[in-house]
Amino acid sequence: MTLSTSETRGDRTGEPVLSLTGIDKRFGAVQALTDVGIEVHAGEVVALVGDNGAGKSTLVKIIAGVYQADAGTISVGGTQAHIDDPSQAQELGIATVFQDLALCDNLDVVANLFLGQEKHTATVLNEVAMETEAWRLLRSLSAKIPSVRIPIASLSGGQRQTVAIARSLVGDPQVVLLDEPTAALGVAQTAEVLNLVERLRERGLGVILVSHNMADVQAVADRIYVLRLGRNAAEFKVEEATTEQLVAAITGASDNVVASRRRRTEQGGQSVVQAENPEDPEDGGDHV
Ligand SMILES: Nc1ncnc2c1ncn2[C@@H]1O[C@H](COP(=O)(O)OP(=O)(O)O)[C@@H](O)[C@H]1O
Ligand SMILES: [Mg+2]
Repeated sequence: MTLSTSETRGDRTGEPVLSLTGIDKRFGAVQALTDVGIEVHAGEVVALVGDNGAGKSTLVKIIAGVYQADAGTISVGGTQAHIDDPSQAQELGIATVFQDLALCDNLDVVANLFLGQEKHTATVLNEVAMETEAWRLLRSLSAKIPSVRIPIASLSGGQRQTVAIARSLVGDPQVVLLDEPTAALGVAQTAEVLNLVERLRERGLGVILVSHNMADVQAVADRIYVLRLGRNAAEFKVEEATTEQLVAAITGASDNVVASRRRRTEQGGQSVVQAENPEDPEDGGDHV
């Protein structure tokens, strides 16, 4: 937990903190995952991207102990593990922030942070200790929360996500899974959550970030796994992946709108004009 960024980033030679190999999962007639493998190291942010239905949430839920894989192995810190339910995942140091966050709107920030893991002396809740710990946790994430005694309902989407991520850290995990943490957020709040992901990496955690947003992924991930139709489709180091390659891997087609726009741009401004606004009298449009 005390490893600095420089010690952890870029060091991929050590044992992964979490690794999955050969994962299969079927729901009735739907083969959701086939022979999927991913790994994440301490101090590494791994993005999991793919189209709707690619199997991202299913994989997250298998790691979180919500679903059990039909085949494959999961290793935590180099040791093979069985994750039969969410409490086992938690014991193994795996924390998950699901897309719906599962916060209680009517309770304040402190109550939400310690929900189910309250601090108490004998039978009395230790509110002071929880409040102190809440501030410590939020400060360590540089989180912008106005008060820990206001109900969750009065917080913005980004602040709620912050509370949900902070809550996942209460058990001092080694790996944090974030399922689409920025999907419902505006630009400023997204930036705040991405900062938070960087704080998690600085703490030496392994982070698995599920996202639809290529800009978010490219801003914060170290490596990117692409799932397509429930299989590993590609893996990139973030500095080696163009948006075009990512879109091609996600869609399974190299000919897509991102690629063709890039081709046009590379051919120079003139051809862009010709391609998009041909000087054709039949065109008849009043293009500007
Ligand atoms: N509980 C379930 N029961 C039946 N089918 C499911 C269930 N969960 C997911 N699926 C199916 O598995 C596939 C992968 O879904 P999912 O993991 O949610 O994809 P993603 O998160 O990438 O959008 C989809 O075809 C989906 O319909
Ligand atoms: Mg999903």
